[in-house]
Amino acid sequence: MNNNIVVTDSRTGKHYDVPGDIIFPDSLTIIDSRTGKEYAVPVHNGTINAMDLRQIKLSEDDFGLMTYDPAFMNTASCKSAITFIDGDKGILRYRGYPIEQLAEKSNFLEVAYLILNGELPSKVQYNDWEYSITHHTMLHESTKKLMEGFNHDAHPMGMLASTVGALSTFYPDSHNIHDAESRKLQTYRLIGKMPTIAAYCYRHRLGLPYIYPDLELSYTGNFLSMMFKMTEMHYKIDPVLEHALDVLFILHADHEQNCSANVMRSIGSSNADPFVSMAGAAAALYGPLHGGANEEVLMMLREIGTKDRVPDFIKRVKEGEQKLMGFGHRIYKNYDPRAKFIKETADQVFEVTGRSRLLDIAIELERIALQDEYFIKRKLYPNVDFYSGIIYQAMGFPTDAFTVLFAIARTAGWIAQWQEMLVDKEQKIARPRQVYIGAEKRDFVPMEKR
Ligand code: ACO
Repeated sequence: MNNNIVVTDSRTGKHYDVPGDIIFPDSLTIIDSRTGKEYAVPVHNGTINAMDLRQIKLSEDDFGLMTYDPAFMNTASCKSAITFIDGDKGILRYRGYPIEQLAEKSNFLEVAYLILNGELPSKVQYNDWEYSITHHTMLHESTKKLMEGFNHDAHPMGMLASTVGALSTFYPDSHNIHDAESRKLQTYRLIGKMPTIAAYCYRHRLGLPYIYPDLELSYTGNFLSMMFKMTEMHYKIDPVLEHALDVLFILHADHEQNCSANVMRSIGSSNADPFVSMAGAAAALYGPLHGGANEEVLMMLREIGTKDRVPDFIKRVKEGEQKLMGFGHRIYKNYDPRAKFIKETADQVFEVTGRSRLLDIAIELERIALQDEYFIKRKLYPNVDFYSGIIYQAMGFPTDAFTVLFAIARTAGWIAQWQEMLVDKEQKIARPRQVYIGAEKRDFVPMEKR
């Protein structure tokens, strides 16, 4: 509905069509019971600007009112046009396109282009994009030496985060973050090199020689080849698994202001280069409450061991002894649309690999949890990580490499979020406030007098 209002400039007699909310903005009336003063705070997009609260003061020298929001439960830190989520309705869209359509009709590289550029590519744009990514898949040979320094049992996510950060030292031009062409080049490098780093992490652990990228293969096909190729001339890729991995990458490509995206933006806001910013984002993803949950789910399923032990496990969860990993989400309180798709992908993968024993335990866990008052009341549903690990395991990936797969896909989202932050005129260095609850001023006491 057009809520424009015609405004006449009395000086010139000219008429202007102006959005109504500029003339009569929605506003929130606040009465400060401490002073009796009344304030009108404009409401835009269902939010008030936190800085508008600063005018609410007890006295002239009062700092002014702030909001207190640990863990950003109710604070929008940016305006974003990348990903839309309606957690209650279970909706996820990248740049307006429903995740279901993208997972069915697109491929990961095309989705990455969409997320980063805002529109689906033309044929020419896609070819150019694919060429640029595949021609940045090689790693500097010194990277291998760096990786050789890791212990044989180093966790792949630790290696990945460190190596991505180390790329900053190979590409000092990446410091040029305000140059759009430079950002484009770093984007090719990051999306191109992440699978190579991931595969090197895996092979380092096994003491296997590193496999160079094969430009003839698809993005996921090349990754599978770098991971699993042995002495054969060409690694034979199963098209079902190649496609399944591609779908999983699409589902993981972005998820608006989650923990790791927030870290990417936060580090990037200090004007650090994208490689070190992404090392931080990968570290955030590593945590078991975020992307590390897929690894935890597998460990949990193994610990449960058999279907008949599920009720006892659920009992322990309800008693607060442990969490049901892969369940619950800050935003989704109905269902996670990605989890539904992942289940379908699992069926396709198991046709090829054979059904995982752990799947039965997972299905039983979901069945019991979804009819249990504890989970219903708290709106806890399976999230993206509940089934993804079982698929990755069936495909031959080791458990501790699961989060690395997540990181490869999320690279597109992280860079898009970082880029959007950099060109957003409203953004500045991220610097939250605090409510100080520590000691009042006191004088230093020499050690012998304490
Ligand atoms: N198992 C058991 N209870 C849970 C779980 C769970 N997985 N998740 C939340 N709860 C309970 C909490 O104990 C709390 O109960 P209470 O009200 O009695 O105290 C209630 O549900 C609300 O939980 P919060 O922790 O406040 O929810 P929040 O939005 O802060 O946390 C999170 C979301 C971190 C995802 C949480 O659900 C969790 O830890 N899940 C398990 C880890 C996981 O799967 N993470 C992956 C998320 S998807 C992703 O990041 C890619």
